Amino acid sequence: MHMIENASSWRSPSNIALVKYWGKYDPQLPANPSLSFTLSESFTETKLEILEESGRGDFDFEVFLDYRKAEDFKPKIQKFLGRIASELDFIKGRKFSIHTYNSFPHSSGIASSASGMSALALCLLSLSPQGKVMSPSAFFQKASEWSRLGSGSASRSVYGPLGLWGKTEGIAESSDEYAIPYQGKVDPIFNEFCDTILLVEKGQKAVSSTAGHGLMKGHPFAQQRFAQAHHNLANLQKILAKGDLEAFGNLVEHEALTLHAMMMSSQPYFILMKPNTLKIIELIWEFRRESQKPLYFTLDAGANVHLLYPKHIEQEALNFVNKEIKLYLNNGEYICDRVGNGPTKLM
Ligand code: DP6
Repeated sequence: MHMIENASSWRSPSNIALVKYWGKYDPQLPANPSLSFTLSESFTETKLEILEESGRGDFDFEVFLDYRKAEDFKPKIQKFLGRIASELDFIKGRKFSIHTYNSFPHSSGIASSASGMSALALCLLSLSPQGKVMSPSAFFQKASEWSRLGSGSASRSVYGPLGLWGKTEGIAESSDEYAIPYQGKVDPIFNEFCDTILLVEKGQKAVSSTAGHGLMKGHPFAQQRFAQAHHNLANLQKILAKGDLEAFGNLVEHEALTLHAMMMSSQPYFILMKPNTLKIIELIWEFRRESQKPLYFTLDAGANVHLLYPKHIEQEALNFVNKEIKLYLNNGEYICDRVGNGPTKLM
């Protein structure tokens, strides 16, 4: 048995970008700003336990997923810890263990890096001498900065209902180093938004996001894309304030397809959608044409489809999923998520 000297535990959510982060440069800085809905039901719970001396100058750790050793998680975490090493004196020479659990099915294609890296960053900061004396706002800003160094999109998971990451014109507090809670006016229709995650394909992504970001280096359309993201973010702010659902849907669908278009036109090129992804998009458009209901989609860098819609059409949306979409899903699986408020300290 190990003596547990100090432990911290956090639950941190995943998020879904409306304006996408795609392209980065060292050290983990975004090529353009992004804005996301923080989710509620898709989260990671992580417990960090600092154990005895490691017997080495450096630190030493083990990672467990659902109580099983997860060796394959170690390299990404090692890289993350390396990036913040100068602030980790309090664990130098120690052993520690990371226990983690995801609320969403294993390898469902939902990115666990946003929730996982933010949960770990929050645990580390809670145990650090600097974290213990910070004001709540300084604490979350620092946690977001550390999360970013683990995974870019993780920086936004620290705040709900909307996280903004990246220097944005007109928002003085915005930064490439950390996300901020989005403070602009938001129509109440967006406070109760649903995200039904349609699992088209399970398993590892065809292209890791880090490799994907790399494809933007030297991409012939990169500069236009980055400029477009700034433009879309400026528009999205007006749309959120007005509660204009049609303009919202138009913008997020266009962002999603642009992200995929970037991958289709990079060198090497990738198609991350599957035939069923396209089928589902067609069905969504057909549903919208016929019902005139505000049901839209976005995609991340994979084949799954996120259905976005306001709470008041939830029943119709779920009927549509069950009747028309389910047969195109992997084992008929989907996850009912919604906009959430950010991380919770468990211990
Ligand atoms: C398509 O945050 O997973 O989901 O910083 O390399 O860890 P790394 O990448 P990651 O990229 C996410 C890309 C995206 C869009 C987004 O979430 O903004």
